[in-house]
Amino acid sequence: MTERRDFLKGSLAAASILALGSVSSAGATTAPFTNIVYTADNPGKWAKKVGSHLPSITVEGDKVTVFTKHGMAEKHYIVRHTLVLEDGTVAGAKVFSPADKEARSTFDLPAGYKGKIFATSFCNLHDFWLNETSV
Ligand SMILES: [Fe+2]
Repeated sequence: MTERRDFLKGSLAAASILALGSVSSAGATTAPFTNIVYTADNPGKWAKKVGSHLPSITVEGDKVTVFTKHGMAEKHYIVRHTLVLEDGTVAGAKVFSPADKEARSTFDLPAGYKGKIFATSFCNLHDFWLNETSV
């Protein structure tokens, strides 16, 4: 229970950092977030898991597709994606179940949006991953 509570505190703190808009995702992986939020540059203890856990972000017009190249099995799957704008606005979230074929979600950006976008992907065994791009 303590681990879950600590994870939730870390996730909320990471979301708060992103909401500030002046910190890149790299800032979310430095102390005290080491081994709480994982990125391509800071995979922490999951260095061998980057390819199967880092969410990819594809932008086509005002549509954003987030994809995690990860299996979807009853005991090990991607639980959730979120897409967050630079000011901390949550543009969308999708919860998955093990029955889903893949961890792919599509979100609409606000009309004319320009700025950073952050995608998160949470694996039930390998924690909370963050990627970003700009549009
Ligand atoms: Fe995993």
